[in-house]
Amino acid sequence: MVEGPRRRALVLGILGSPRERSHTEALLERVLAGAAAAGARSPASAKTELIRLRELRFESCRHCGGCESTGRCVVQDDMQQVYPKLREAQHLVLASPIQFSGVSGETKALIDRAQCCWVEKYWLKRPVSEAEGERRGLFVATCGGKDARVFDWARHTVEAFFNSTGFGYWGELFEASTDAAPPMTERAPLLEEAEALGRKIVAK
Ligand SMILES: Cc1cc2nc3c(=O)[nH]c(=O)nc-3n(C[C@H](O)[C@H](O)[C@H](O)COP(=O)(O)O)c2cc1C
Repeated sequence: MVEGPRRRALVLGILGSPRERSHTEALLERVLAGAAAAGARSPASAKTELIRLRELRFESCRHCGGCESTGRCVVQDDMQQVYPKLREAQHLVLASPIQFSGVSGETKALIDRAQCCWVEKYWLKRPVSEAEGERRGLFVATCGGKDARVFDWARHTVEAFFNSTGFGYWGELFEASTDAAPPMTERAPLLEEAEALGRKIVAK
């Protein structure tokens, strides 16, 4: 029997910064560049996609219960474009600035809208994705101040999101003190670290 072409694994990046030229976006882009470069050399090649939440129009969860019998969200807004990508993705890189000691509002709205995935997994007991094998979740975050405890506080929320959407909490890249640091474009070692994580996330 002749095998068909191998499906290219999707590495999905989701950015929760509300602004352009964002610190977290620079890191996320390098992670995805690393994944794309490594995937291109590997037989199980990877494709990458970047979703910027600030470019979408969507609400937070209404807690309307509309997903409780189907595992599908009934709110018809731009999140409906994100759900199929979340289900398809082999690996997920979620990138958010820290705002008031947690993830940004955009990121938290996305996370709350994953309630339908939580319902599907834990109540309806169905797989949330057709992707086979390990699904890795990487959390990228930056904060302006020196107090790196904020990353611990945000991590709990992101772990719950990864669990509900079918990803294991595989890794993290945190950078504090961005408010006093040079622009990300001038921070070669950190960007290289981000790219190395991108290569690693697609590695077997
Ligand atoms: C509304 C708001 C709240 C913030 N809250 C915190 C905070 O609690 N702790 C902190 O260290 N930095 C805080 N910051 C600074 C950002 O985390 C920091 O500038 C971050 O690197 C921005 O990332 P971005 O450029 O990707 O958006 C806050 C910034 C904003 C706009």
